[in-house]
Amino acid sequence: MENLYLIGFMGTGKSTVAKFFQDEYHMKLFEMDEEIVQQEQRSIADIFAGEGEAYFRNLETALVKKFHSETSLVVSCGGGTVLRPENVAMMKKSGKVVLLRAKPETILERVKQSTDRPLLNGNMNVEYIAELMEKRKAIYESSADLIIDTDGKSVREICGEIIGGK
Ligand code: S3P
Repeated sequence: MENLYLIGFMGTGKSTVAKFFQDEYHMKLFEMDEEIVQQEQRSIADIFAGEGEAYFRNLETALVKKFHSETSLVVSCGGGTVLRPENVAMMKKSGKVVLLRAKPETILERVKQSTDRPLLNGNMNVEYIAELMEKRKAIYESSADLIIDTDGKSVREICGEIIGGK
């Protein structure tokens, strides 16, 4: 089976949906942020603070390279993974890329308690989220084979849409 790459802004439900695919379809789950934290033995916030964003993005590219030679994986990508065209190209070669979308208000509700998203620390408001989302909109949409709006839907419904390819 080809890999399934879940992309989208922070807090769009990539991890939850990926977990569902692991549980229901026995796909092997990879949570990119978690992999990086384990590999580096420190938090994403610490990696950004200590080494900068470019270092983190290099770790993401290395992971995508690794996945791209495997099959039957469900990968919950970091929200910025698609910012590098080379990552998107590798993902498309080895699987289906599904974009999850949600309204900025929904996203804020989901992420506001967390302090481990350096791009949102100090920017935890709807305006900032909407602005960053707008900046990335074209990249997200052009990277996706399938786009799913998740607001008001259950995880099961979202997965059903992914499988149905709607
Ligand atoms: C980022 C998203 C985060 C994490 C890092 C940067 C981004 O992942 O990789 O904080 O640039 O959108 P999640 O989308 O899993 O929160």
